[in-house]
Amino acid sequence: MSGLGNGRRVIGMRCRECGTEYPVQATHVCEMCFGPLDVVYDYDAIRKRISHRSIAAGPPSMWRYRDLLPLEDEVPVVTLGEGFTPLIHAERLGAELGLRNLYLKNDSMNPTNSFKDRVVSVAVSWARAHGFETIGCASTGNLANAVAAYSARAGLEAFVFIPSDLEPGKVVSTSVFEPNLIAVRGNYDQVNRLCSQLVETYPWAFCNINVRPFYAEGSKTLDFETAEQLGWRLPDEIVIPIASGCQFVKHRRAVGEMVDLGLVEAGSRLPALTGAQALGCAPVYNAWKEGTETVLPVKPNTIAKSIAIGSPSDGSYVIRIARETGGVVEAVTEEEIIDSIRLLARTEGIFTETAGGVTIGVLAKLARAGRWKGDEVVVAYVTGHGLKTADAVAAAPSPGRRFEIEPTLKSFKESVNI
Ligand SMILES: Cc1ncc(COP(=O)(O)O)c(C=O)c1O
Ligand SMILES: [Zn+2]
Repeated sequence: MSGLGNGRRVIGMRCRECGTEYPVQATHVCEMCFGPLDVVYDYDAIRKRISHRSIAAGPPSMWRYRDLLPLEDEVPVVTLGEGFTPLIHAERLGAELGLRNLYLKNDSMNPTNSFKDRVVSVAVSWARAHGFETIGCASTGNLANAVAAYSARAGLEAFVFIPSDLEPGKVVSTSVFEPNLIAVRGNYDQVNRLCSQLVETYPWAFCNINVRPFYAEGSKTLDFETAEQLGWRLPDEIVIPIASGCQFVKHRRAVGEMVDLGLVEAGSRLPALTGAQALGCAPVYNAWKEGTETVLPVKPNTIAKSIAIGSPSDGSYVIRIARETGGVVEAVTEEEIIDSIRLLARTEGIFTETAGGVTIGVLAKLARAGRWKGDEVVVAYVTGHGLKTADAVAAAPSPGRRFEIEPTLKSFKESVNI
C-alpha cells in the first residue's frame, strides 16, 4: 500500500500547451491541440512524505527518488541498478578551463552505459504494470541498447528500430539481448515517423512515443542526484546535450520540484540550463542564434549520432527554458567533438562517446569565451560511454604515444626515449 493520502502519487496527465487534463493512459499528445502531455503529481501528498532522510533511506539507485517518479509504491520496478552515478569534481579539466568548481556527472556508468537507462527503467516498469507485453522504441542507439536490456530483464518482447548506419558498437551491445532489431534504411527522423505510424496499429509501449510522458520523468533523477551529491544544493549552471530536447525539459521540471518541495534551500536560484549540439545537427542552436522559438528541421550530418535528431520534438521548449534560466544554446564542430573527447580522457580519465564530446566541447567553448568568472558551480552531464563510438577516436590515434617494439629491453630503450 502506498503511504500517500489517497494512495496515488500520479493523479493524471496535462497538456503542456492548453492545460487540458487527461486520466493516466499510454498517450503523449493532447487531442485538443497536439501539445505534449506531462504527468501530474499530487505534490501536496508528496510534500508531506519526502525529505532528505526518506531519500537517504532509499536504495543506492535512482529509485531513491521514487516519490517523484510516476510509479506507485506497489508496482514492481524493472531495475538493473541504474542511477546514482558518480559526480566528479573535475579539478584538472577545471584548471584547463579556469573553473574551480567544475563537476562531471558521469552517466556513462549506468548499466548499459548511458543516461537512457534512467528513462527506460521507468518506461518499462510503467508499461509492464499497465499490461503491455511488448516494448518498442525509435532510437539513435543508446535507447535501443537500454530498451533491449531492460526488456530482457523484464521478460518482455522488444522491437527496436534504429537507422541502419548506426555505429557497430551500439548495434552489438543491443543485439546481444536478442530484441527484434529493425535496421531502417533512413535517418532517425524517418525511423521515428515510421514508429509513430506503428504505434497506431500495434499494442506496444513505445518508450519515446506513447509512453513518453512517463519515460521522460526518469531524466529528473540526474538533477536530484546532482543536488544530493552537492550536499542538497543546486549548481549555478548545467550543460546538457540536446537531441529531442526531452531530458532538457525534464531537468527544468526537476530543479523546480526541488525548490517547491523544500529539498533545496528556499529561494535557491534555478541553475542556468545550457544546451549543447553538434553543428552537424543543430536545429535548436540555429533557432537560438536567430532569436526565435521556431525550430526548423535539418538533415543531420555528424559523428555525434546519438544526438542526431533533425526535428527535435521539444526543441522550442529548450529555447524557452534556456532563456528563462539564463542559459544558452551553443554548438561545436566535428573536430571540437573529437578534441573534447580526448581532453576529457586526458584530464579526468573518463572516456565518453561523441555526444559527451559535444557537451564537453560546448563547456570548453563557453569557458574559453569567458562565460564564467571561475567560482561558479558548473556541472556537465556526460551521458554516454566512449566504447559506444570508439571508431570516432580510433581513426586518429593520439600523436606520439604509440610505440611498436620487439620483446627486448634493447628495443624498448631504442624506441622509447625516456
Ligand atoms: C548519449 C546521449 N546524450 C543525450 C541525448 C539527448 O537526449 P534527448 O533526446 O532527451 O535530448 C541522447 C539521446 O538519445 C543520448 O543518447
Ligand atoms: Zn492541448
